[in-house]
Amino acid sequence: MPSPTYYVSTPIYYVNDAPHLGHAYTTVAGDVLTRWHRQRGEKVWYLTGTDEHGQKIMRTAEANGVTPQEWCDKLVGEAWQPLWEHLNIANDDFIRTTQKRHTDRVQEFVQDLYDKGEIYKGGYEGPYCVGCEEYKLPGDLIRAEDGTELCAIHKKPVELLKEENYFFKLSEYGPKLLEFYEANTGFIQPESARNEVLNFVRQGLQDLSISRSTFDWGVPVPWDPQHVIYVWVDALLNYATAVGYGADQARFEEVFPADVHLVGKDILRFHAIIWPAMLMANGLPVPGKVAANGWLMVGGEKMSKSNLTGIKPQDLTSHFGVDAYRWYFLRAIAFGQDGSFSWEDFTARYTSELANDYGNLASRVAAMVGKYFGGELPAAAADGAAEAAVQEGLARAAAEADRRIGDELDFQGGILAVFDFVKQVNGYLTEQEPWKVAKDESDAGRARLATILYTAAEALRGVAVLLNPVMPDTSQQLWDSLGAEAALGSLADQRVQEAGVWGALTPGAKVTKGAVLFPRLEEKPA
Ligand code: ME8
Ligand code: MG
Repeated sequence: MPSPTYYVSTPIYYVNDAPHLGHAYTTVAGDVLTRWHRQRGEKVWYLTGTDEHGQKIMRTAEANGVTPQEWCDKLVGEAWQPLWEHLNIANDDFIRTTQKRHTDRVQEFVQDLYDKGEIYKGGYEGPYCVGCEEYKLPGDLIRAEDGTELCAIHKKPVELLKEENYFFKLSEYGPKLLEFYEANTGFIQPESARNEVLNFVRQGLQDLSISRSTFDWGVPVPWDPQHVIYVWVDALLNYATAVGYGADQARFEEVFPADVHLVGKDILRFHAIIWPAMLMANGLPVPGKVAANGWLMVGGEKMSKSNLTGIKPQDLTSHFGVDAYRWYFLRAIAFGQDGSFSWEDFTARYTSELANDYGNLASRVAAMVGKYFGGELPAAAADGAAEAAVQEGLARAAAEADRRIGDELDFQGGILAVFDFVKQVNGYLTEQEPWKVAKDESDAGRARLATILYTAAEALRGVAVLLNPVMPDTSQQLWDSLGAEAALGSLADQRVQEAGVWGALTPGAKVTKGAVLFPRLEEKPA
């Protein structure tokens, strides 16, 4: 049963280090998706947060000579939350797994599973990757040249662990999960990710070790506090505890389960297999979709904390601006596919698509309304075939962007639909040559000029609405420049479904030439 709220989550990130481009990629995608749905007029909940328990965090804190809690507080306060603010992320909540609102409920959830006979005590011995916080199967490992077994994701040696653990009977959920995937073909996106999960589950699932006993940085197992709850079980539960699980039933039913869990491919199995099985085991509803983004790559490898470009999100925003940053990764890489970042590619796209195609169009139109009509938007006199084509173009772009971004999480396709329309409007102006029509001072000439400029301005009105979820600052600048607020109200209240309905902008609007939306780039910093 879907809940009334459109609920989207990001992974809760490990705070062993500061956020990098990869984390920002997923978080910006979720922000665009949720802003889109808010602009459909839906109730929306966008959750992000931090994963603070486990051996990886504990070791990092130790290496830095502070307690794990001190480490987490510092990183969250000085690195994670400030970056999301800087990138204009409109999350509705920020959950930290060390918060009591979370840890108490995690204990209750696990206790419930225990009481239902879903958990038993056993022993386990196997290779563990602290980077992944996961016991590895033989197929997950690669061999270094000297024969050492490495985690295929982190390229670091695994550790052989032998512990007495509590186990969740995950193996029993294989058939139920397969049935669920069959019935809900859109549950895992993209198709390649779905196939990977299906193949994995078809091979048979092992029971899951859900406690650790050799360190103590975690939530104690309620019936056996010598153990802490496995960090992944703890972490996955954030999606429930943040929205009232066990604390506010009405709120929980209003929001849970998530419509979309956004994740990277590295943590797909946790979300598509373990998480729904945990929920099934406790009789809770399962999420609508797990959507995996591809990897941002550097030098042919997944970008990670240990292998970075050396480029921080802030290095890019200070050069290109926050809006361009938000736009670039979603525009350049098909969501779900891997992609590489390069300074050159960003520069080229910024210059041609943002500055030349879009920014210039916005400033040209405002300048002409200023010059020829004293900054007062004229009414269109008589629309002809050229105007009809622009009107249809906007309707098409709006419908396509709404479907692609809002429904399909195809951010690239949605953004392209809008930018194709921007190109169309540029072509329209090139053909209609308003600067030449302006020389004809007859009534017919004035009427024609009015029609052209109204058409271009109204087209931009639609563009501002459609780009607002992606680039909120520059869209607002354009909205202000079109004088749209007075007649139409705030930009955030404009429905994306209606963005393509022609004629919203009212003649008489005060059009002003604001600051350039996408200024010429400075030299690349050394
Ligand atoms: O896995 N390209 O946290 P984490 C694209 N705490 N996305 C990337 C990326 C890259 N190169 N690098 C990271 C954890 N990401 C757990 C999650 S959730 C209950 C617990 C993004 O800090 C991507 O979304 O390792 C990936 O799944 C996530 O950051 C991993 O963040
Ligand atoms: Mg990770």
